Amino acid sequence: MRRSLTPLVALLSIASVFTSSLAVPQRRFTSNVDRRADVPIPDPASHVNLFIGTTSSGHAFPGNAGVTLPHGMVKVGMDTDSPDNHAGYDSNPSFSATGFSQLHDDGTGGSVPLSLWKIWPFASCGDDNRFEVCACDINSRKVLRKTLADGSPDDAAEPGYFASNLSTDIRVELTATRRAALHRYTFPANAIIPRLVVDITNDGQQSNSVPIVTIDPDTGRVTGGSTFAASFGPGVYRAYTCVDFKGDGFDLGKPAEFGTYLGNSPIRGLVGGIQEYTGYRSELGALLGFNQNGNGETAIYARVGVSFISTDQACANAEAEIPTFDFDGTRSAARAAWNELLGRVQVETDGVDDDTVTLFYSSLYRTHISPADYTGENPLWNSTEPYYDSFYCNWDTFRTLYPLMSLHDPENFARIVRGMINIQQHEGKFWWLPECRGATAKQWIQGGSDGDPILGEFFVKFAEQAASLNVSADALYQALLADAEDQPPDWNLQGRQVNVWKQYGYIPQDLIEPGGANTKQVSRALEYAFGDFAISQVAKALNKTDDAEKYAKRAGNFVNVWNPNVTVPGNESVVSGMVQPRFANGSFGFTDPNHCSPNDATGANCFLFNTNFDGFYESSPVVYSQFVPQDTAKLIELQGGPEKFVARLDFIFDGNYFDSTDEPSQQIPFMYHYANKPGHSTQRSRQVLAQHFSTATNGLPGNDDSGAMASYVAFFLAGLYPVPATKQYLLSSPFFPKISFFNPAFNTTTNIVVSNFVGNPANGTGGTVFVQNVTIDGQPAKSNCFLDWDVFQRGATVELTLTDNIEVTCGNGTDALPPSLSTGGFDT
Ligand SMILES: *[C@@H]1O[C@H](CO)[C@@H](O)[C@H](O)[C@H]1NC(C)=O
Ligand SMILES: *[C@@H]1O[C@H](CO)[C@@H](O)[C@H](O)[C@H]1NC(C)=O
Ligand SMILES: *[C@@H]1O[C@H](CO)[C@@H](O)[C@H](O)[C@H]1NC(C)=O
Ligand SMILES: *[C@@H]1O[C@H](CO)[C@@H](O)[C@H](O)[C@H]1NC(C)=O
Ligand SMILES: *[C@@H]1O[C@H](CO)[C@@H](O)[C@H](O)[C@H]1NC(C)=O
Ligand SMILES: *[C@@H]1O[C@H](CO)[C@@H](O)[C@H](O)[C@H]1NC(C)=O
Ligand SMILES: *[C@@H]1O[C@H](CO)[C@@H](O)[C@H](O)[C@H]1NC(C)=O
Ligand SMILES: *[C@@H]1O[C@H](CO)[C@@H](O)[C@H](O)[C@H]1NC(C)=O
Ligand SMILES: *[C@@H]1O[C@H](CO)[C@@H](O)[C@H](O)[C@H]1NC(C)=O
Ligand SMILES: *[C@@H]1O[C@H](CO)[C@@H](O)[C@H](O)[C@H]1NC(C)=O
Ligand SMILES: *[C@@H]1O[C@H](CO)[C@@H](O)[C@H](O)[C@H]1NC(C)=O
Repeated sequence: MRRSLTPLVALLSIASVFTSSLAVPQRRFTSNVDRRADVPIPDPASHVNLFIGTTSSGHAFPGNAGVTLPHGMVKVGMDTDSPDNHAGYDSNPSFSATGFSQLHDDGTGGSVPLSLWKIWPFASCGDDNRFEVCACDINSRKVLRKTLADGSPDDAAEPGYFASNLSTDIRVELTATRRAALHRYTFPANAIIPRLVVDITNDGQQSNSVPIVTIDPDTGRVTGGSTFAASFGPGVYRAYTCVDFKGDGFDLGKPAEFGTYLGNSPIRGLVGGIQEYTGYRSELGALLGFNQNGNGETAIYARVGVSFISTDQACANAEAEIPTFDFDGTRSAARAAWNELLGRVQVETDGVDDDTVTLFYSSLYRTHISPADYTGENPLWNSTEPYYDSFYCNWDTFRTLYPLMSLHDPENFARIVRGMINIQQHEGKFWWLPECRGATAKQWIQGGSDGDPILGEFFVKFAEQAASLNVSADALYQALLADAEDQPPDWNLQGRQVNVWKQYGYIPQDLIEPGGANTKQVSRALEYAFGDFAISQVAKALNKTDDAEKYAKRAGNFVNVWNPNVTVPGNESVVSGMVQPRFANGSFGFTDPNHCSPNDATGANCFLFNTNFDGFYESSPVVYSQFVPQDTAKLIELQGGPEKFVARLDFIFDGNYFDSTDEPSQQIPFMYHYANKPGHSTQRSRQVLAQHFSTATNGLPGNDDSGAMASYVAFFLAGLYPVPATKQYLLSSPFFPKISFFNPAFNTTTNIVVSNFVGNPANGTGGTVFVQNVTIDGQPAKSNCFLDWDVFQRGATVELTLTDNIEVTCGNGTDALPPSLSTGGFDT
């Protein structure tokens, strides 16, 4: 998603300039691929580059270079004064560091999310190094990082660890557990009084209210709390912290000096104990000075607990998770957790360049940052079920992130699903699945109720394992029905505008209803149809035959917004028919097919509310006219048959309608499969990677969108593409001679092996990469174009034979083309 609050004209045209030729040097990252065949990569974390997408000239919000456990709550990292600092860090060294905060998201938009409780080190203050003149406010304190010979900042990051050398000669190192962070600040010998700030108010939005701060004069423990604004919605949340200090290798003793600051005026001591303030306070926090080690450098740990419940719980979280301030132990435990998860997907690397291996594992890593496990930290209701947050947003992630989890991480997927159902069962008076959620607040919905395909994806794949994974089939189905049948009081925040959907089978553009913004009617209708498809798939798996038919019928409602007479002027022979807004009386409105495309001369971006009355969200009518994953066969028919369909796909790429920065375009490269031209999908998907994604710091064309883009890249590299809430994965060729997926739900490993691997064409064009023949456990497959879930469930060996002839087919049998609703539907 783009999801900025300002128009992003530049972004629309910028994608094509992000090629690896613009790669800036990678700092402190060396990939060292083990090239022996059939030996598992022992340390996949060593192939994760955390700097991918951490800077951009295109106002794209960077990915996360911070430290987290898989789906951990704490995501500790450097904040910078970059305008693109939504994830905190920016690898452009001209931006200054402003603090090291405990919570972030990965590549989101809106306003800066989280970024709470920044810690900041001072080597000295002012000319005479007095406490009272320490300039603590964020703009006064910030400093540049040191740079290396190649001009990049002296920063290092790997799963479980981040380090930076500041221009003040202070070294900062970070590691984390689920709900706590451990910082180590190494001060130079000339730092007579090493000082640390605990910033209570700076969340990147200046939205705080009613902040509190306390300092324990004996131990130096700082506790704090404040209320902040959500990133992408009307909500607020209250969060708490608890910071303890310890000397590394020496007894730190009591703080030599301490006090609070407001603005740039530190005041020694704490008048009256707890300092509780009213309303908004700019620049409030604690400042502590410590005695030197006396032995050269002084290294001080700051252990930071975080909670959404209370300061007591923030302290308890830190004490439980990092009891002895063991930095190395915490760091290696985090790395081990990542290696266990990443190691479930193994690639053979003979004939594959290091960058490709790195791109794969880095993408797999970023698939597991969000949503985040806030279990025990839900302030809204008590429950023994898991609580997850940072669904930012389901609109981004339903397409590829969860189908990738299905392949190797069913336990976390099940916990996330349980968390979603728990929210549906408890949230306020009216109950719907979460759609976009951040920092415990409901955020703006971008499209349909896209939690439905996520629950559908889980249940279609794991119906038989659901009970042992503690997912209640009944509760899951009831949650889906709430979205499908009950209209919420505000469909900007949850659920759907479902009454008119049921009445008309589309969302009339001229029907103004109270209860949400009457916008995005066409793209919402397409997503409601796909949501209903997911529900029909679950109903089918539950043997609820009537419901399965009912929702499959509603899934066919996409035809109601299809206007066969709309074309792109000048391209009539290629483009006949398009999704368009429709009025309550049945006649069609008109939205220019170029609207919100990279070709839109007006630069419209179809962002959330501003001027978005044309029916589409963040993509053009041309792109949305391809979004019917449940019935591509019907789409081909509407578009004039396979040949015209292929010509239209080519037109979308050659005519600059494909938008690599945004999710609605994601499946388009693979759609040639449905026209029996899978070689063209293979080439397009490889060209998309070559042109728009790399391991460079600007190697993402837009936001990572909470791992939506990362999981997309991982699928393309694996030679697979998912159809969510089905038992099928579209099949292409992997970038590796072999890729295997271990699935703990089945205790099986599935191998996809290329019998004649010769390497990957650098620009994605041509090569011996087209799938000519597929066998599964030695037997000819029914299709060269897709794999059934059964293959992954039982742990089959899939062997591919590749050719350099792009004109391969899916095969000649009746089952060779991937399924569609109108050609017999999907097995569940
Ligand atoms: C920072 O400085 C230390 C000490 O000189 C050095 O060991 C380290 O490699 C430097 N860079 C980072 C990112 O830690
Ligand atoms: C959850 O339980 C605790 C302990 O009983 C209680 O203090 C708290 O108020 C409860 N929270 C909610 C939201 O009900
Ligand atoms: C399911 O719940 C039971 C009972 O609470 C628990 O013992 C078990 O560990 C849970 N299993 C999973 C996979 O969460
Ligand atoms: C649905 O019916 C099939 C065939 O009768 C049966 O094997 C399966 O267990 C049933 N599933 C459920 C969830 O009842
Ligand atoms: C499309 O054009 C045909 C021929 O002019 C006309 O009969 C039909 O009603 C039009 N359909 C729509 C949806 O405008
Ligand atoms: C689409 O129209 C433009 C402008 O008339 C033209 O340059 C281009 O070749 C056309 N593309 C196709 C595929 O017909
Ligand atoms: C249908 O409704 C639209 C918008 O309200 C109006 O402009 C149009 O004239 C109507 N068409 C007919 C045939 O009534
Ligand atoms: C998983 O499979 C392996 C053999 O592939 C076997 O050794 C192990 O016992 C199995 N684990 C479980 C829990 O069944
Ligand atoms: C891709 O690379 C091949 C081989 O180097 C070259 O022949 C071809 O022209 C390139 N194609 C594009 C579209 O750049
Ligand atoms: C595919 O491979 C199988 C097994 O080797 C073989 O029997 C079959 O003839 C091959 N088909 C094609 C079209 O190459
Ligand atoms: C499909 O049939 C054609 C013509 O008989 C043959 O050339 C081709 O190899 C077949 N394709 C596959 C994938 O079996």
